[in-house]
Amino acid sequence: MEPLVDSYGRRIKSMRISITDKCNFRCTYCMPAEGLPWLKKAEILSYEEIVRISRVAVNMGIEQIRLTGGEPLVRRDVPDLIRQLHTLEGLRSLSLTTNGVLLKQQAQALAEAGLTRINVSLDSLVREKFAQLTRRDQIERVLEGLEEIKKYPSIHPIKINAVAMRDFTEEEVLDFVRFARDNAFVVRWIEFMPLDADQIWRKEDILTGAEIKAIIEAAYGPLVQIKGDPSETARRYTFSDGVGEIGFINPVSEPFCSSCDRIRLTADGQLRTCLFATEETDLRSVVRSDASDAQLADVIRQAVWHKELKHYIGDKRFKRASRTMSRIGG
Ligand code: GTP
Ligand code: 5AD
Ligand code: SF4
Repeated sequence: MEPLVDSYGRRIKSMRISITDKCNFRCTYCMPAEGLPWLKKAEILSYEEIVRISRVAVNMGIEQIRLTGGEPLVRRDVPDLIRQLHTLEGLRSLSLTTNGVLLKQQAQALAEAGLTRINVSLDSLVREKFAQLTRRDQIERVLEGLEEIKKYPSIHPIKINAVAMRDFTEEEVLDFVRFARDNAFVVRWIEFMPLDADQIWRKEDILTGAEIKAIIEAAYGPLVQIKGDPSETARRYTFSDGVGEIGFINPVSEPFCSSCDRIRLTADGQLRTCLFATEETDLRSVVRSDASDAQLADVIRQAVWHKELKHYIGDKRFKRASRTMSRIGG
């Protein structure tokens, strides 16, 4: 089949699938303390529907699938879904972004089902700060989950995502660097984006990747850039001794839209062609009609063609996305 391209010539190779809008954390930069009204079961795509859309997408050149949430591991039988996706021919990477709380119990089943990579969100290594940010006192469970997943070398690399916020992140930057180097975790700092439900985001709260890099270089000397694929979210670095890898995801200070290769499927079956999209394409009604795979492919192709040029964070033209982070999946 023809490759999936948008009107700006970007080839789309990666699909992020949110499998639930529910989460067992309430991170301040994402969800309100009281949670959000959850989707009803009938609104959520079944695994069968997800696999069908994925098969069609992989046939159109999607090579990477990442499962997200809410918190994906709160949905039942995630390994079953992974097992089915794993059989899709042409898929090169099958990964998961999780808060890690349920990882310890599920690590083995995820590995056996064919998960190839994992990203775990962890914004602080200090118990009180972690509890304040996530509104749940459960850092130990996340750390235990990380220890457990290290036992499965088929899942590699293990990445840590830390959302960077001014007056919160700075004092722990070097602790995270040691954590990365000691455990062979790839630590990435993410610039805070205006996707939070409480609308607490302010430009002044952003701690840029360049600022964090300066803190690290003052202690370790110049970082050494690792050449990655331009479509990757992170700018990647190692140290002069070659031990460890860190990265900076700088969507605000250094937008990477021009090389974006991503689309997103929400838990309720809406295709989003940008994290900041204000409009979506309803794939759920297509898969719940008598449409053929060819017709489904056509709908996806049309939507992708109209993929947004870029986000406008920090610009007068900026409009908030039509959903907040937990309902998109990052
Ligand atoms: P890797 O393939 O392992 O590099 O993962 P990833 O960085 O693509 O995914 P992950 O779920 O770990 O996302 C890390 C951060 O990058 C999250 O805060 C995402 O919201 C952000 N991110 C991912 N894709 C995009 C994107 O297309 N645009 C913007 N602005 N941010 C993105
Ligand atoms: N800005 C930047 N990153 C965010 N994430 C959640 N909310 C935000 C935000 N407002 C991160 C999570 C997770 C990834 C999927 O997105 O911490 O690592
Ligand atoms: Fe891609 Fe939209 Fe993210 Fe830019 S903001 S990198 S276009 S998804």
